[in-house]
Amino acid sequence: MFLMQTTTMKPIYSGKAKDLFETETPEVLRAYFRDSATAFNAQKKGEIQNKGKVNATMSTLLFNLLEQDGIKTHFIKQIADNELLIKRVKIIPLEVIVRNIAAGSLCKRLGIKEGKVLKSPIVEFSYKNDELGDPLLTRAYIINALEVADNKTLDIISERTLKINEIFKEFFLNVGIKVVDFKLEYGTDKDSNLLLADELSPDNFRFWDAKTNEKLDKDRFRQDLGNVEGAYGEMLKRVKEGLKNEPARRRTGEPASSQSYNVRVQILPKADILDPQGQAVEKALKSLSYSEVIDLKIGKEIVFKLKSESKEKAQVHVKEMCEKLLANPVIEDYKIEID
Ligand code: C5P
Repeated sequence: MFLMQTTTMKPIYSGKAKDLFETETPEVLRAYFRDSATAFNAQKKGEIQNKGKVNATMSTLLFNLLEQDGIKTHFIKQIADNELLIKRVKIIPLEVIVRNIAAGSLCKRLGIKEGKVLKSPIVEFSYKNDELGDPLLTRAYIINALEVADNKTLDIISERTLKINEIFKEFFLNVGIKVVDFKLEYGTDKDSNLLLADELSPDNFRFWDAKTNEKLDKDRFRQDLGNVEGAYGEMLKRVKEGLKNEPARRRTGEPASSQSYNVRVQILPKADILDPQGQAVEKALKSLSYSEVIDLKIGKEIVFKLKSESKEKAQVHVKEMCEKLLANPVIEDYKIEID
């Protein structure tokens, strides 16, 4: 018999939501996903019904997706609703976090408004240490003080994490989900191969509905938003839906059923921003006795065609373009029309 009963075995590791057990094969472990949930470094505790099953299944589907794109992971197979077989790795004690949109600790730390689209994705490292509250690290801390990874390994981890981010951003946008941020862990196997480890689930991702910005992740538990189980279930449903489109997309290398949309972006100075050009034109019109003209603003209009799989996805992409390049959100308002 390859496996032993969970109940009669002592885990070799018991985390906040998972237990790891040895198997008869030294290099293979069994990960049992519990329904228990914690937040704020275990200061808040609870249960999310079905979470173990959803997280084990979603991890299975997403590890498989990454493996197809050449990312090496610790995943072997799902053996029960709540259980995976994984390769034994030595975990590098770093929480590797990638952020696309400001939320959570980034907002707290920098006073930035939740929802700001970041100019470019950010990869950051925290020390995986509950007693210290997982403090944010610099490269020098990691290399010279903790000595848990060298510069080259951190470069490889950052590059791989950004690639994973691109795969997930694309995959989830196809099913109407924005990937706000997520946390990864890496480890090394007995042959020193660097493998993606841990799990891939709403416990360690922030997922927002692309249309409504509804939170569909552990923030529902952290912030007492209710319907936590519903959100986890919805995310598993969307992952399964996304996988139905995947084979076609991979074969052609093209976005699935891409269409061309006409985009019109109108950009105007904000109401309280000085607009000398607009003021000059308004003054000139008044001098031509058009005294009824008030609050004249001069802006610009940008038009282009955009290939996208859906109008919803096009909307999200154009909004990103506006925030990053087309407009200056501090002093300008923008309006997007897509048809
Ligand atoms: O709290 P913070 O904003 O730093 O979290 C960033 C991302 O990393 C979130 O998706 C969160 O769920 C995840 N995270 C995690 N485990 C931690 C800390 C953060 O999964 N210990």
